[in-house]
Amino acid sequence: MDKEKKYIIANWKMALNHAETIHLSNYLKKQIKDFQDNLQLVVCPSFLSLVKVQEIFENTSVQIGAQDCFWEEKGGYTGEISPLNLKNLNCQYVILGHSERRKHLQETNDMVHRKCEMALKSKLIPILCIGENWEQRSEKQKDFVLINQLTEALQGISVSPEDQVIVAYEPVWAISTGEGIEAEPEEVQYAAEVIKQVLLDMYNKEITYHNFRVIYGGSVNSENVNSFLNLPNITGALVGAATQKTHTFMELLENIK
Ligand code: PGA
Repeated sequence: MDKEKKYIIANWKMALNHAETIHLSNYLKKQIKDFQDNLQLVVCPSFLSLVKVQEIFENTSVQIGAQDCFWEEKGGYTGEISPLNLKNLNCQYVILGHSERRKHLQETNDMVHRKCEMALKSKLIPILCIGENWEQRSEKQKDFVLINQLTEALQGISVSPEDQVIVAYEPVWAISTGEGIEAEPEEVQYAAEVIKQVLLDMYNKEITYHNFRVIYGGSVNSENVNSFLNLPNITGALVGAATQKTHTFMELLENIK
């Protein structure tokens, strides 16, 4: 993972069908040469399109992520996706603990923990999503929620110098599928500091600063992207809606300073 580059991780969720995914990927491929230097692009398509998208971006700087994985490598787990198989298909990242999965599929911190552990074992880079909802924020539980989600997800997992972990701070109320309220950069910066402190408690300084990256997600678009990417502790963005259409994705990339 290149610490100098800013990461833009496109979460395509279940927003696109296969043909739309291929179209968007081909379009992006034609444009990326201009964005190679300061940005690392990662696209996270639906599992159904993952192999095809990987083929499209082969020999380019764009990297591929999955939107989830299971906590076992192999076995009788109907419908689940093996992290090892993802790795073997040249997928490098996996989004884990996204609030939409926590909400609609009742994913718990323990499940996220097991997935994280297995993803790292399979040499994938987890994009671990944490964040409070509006109610928790209103009740001043934000710090507690962040600390709790982060420690429970990572407790007992050793991160070696070869491993990388991305922690995505995604306040549920700021995500476009949630309330879509735009977060203030100061609030994001504060959350990133809380995250860093927790990591420093759990890991040594070396691992915290070299092997973890904190990014932000929640209604990031071409207009607000720089206000988040320029924060001192934020080194990337996990972006949903704005990366799901060719013109909004290009606008987002073009506006990054
Ligand atoms: P959004 O999604 O950019 O559409 O708010 C971000 C996410 O859910 O990861």
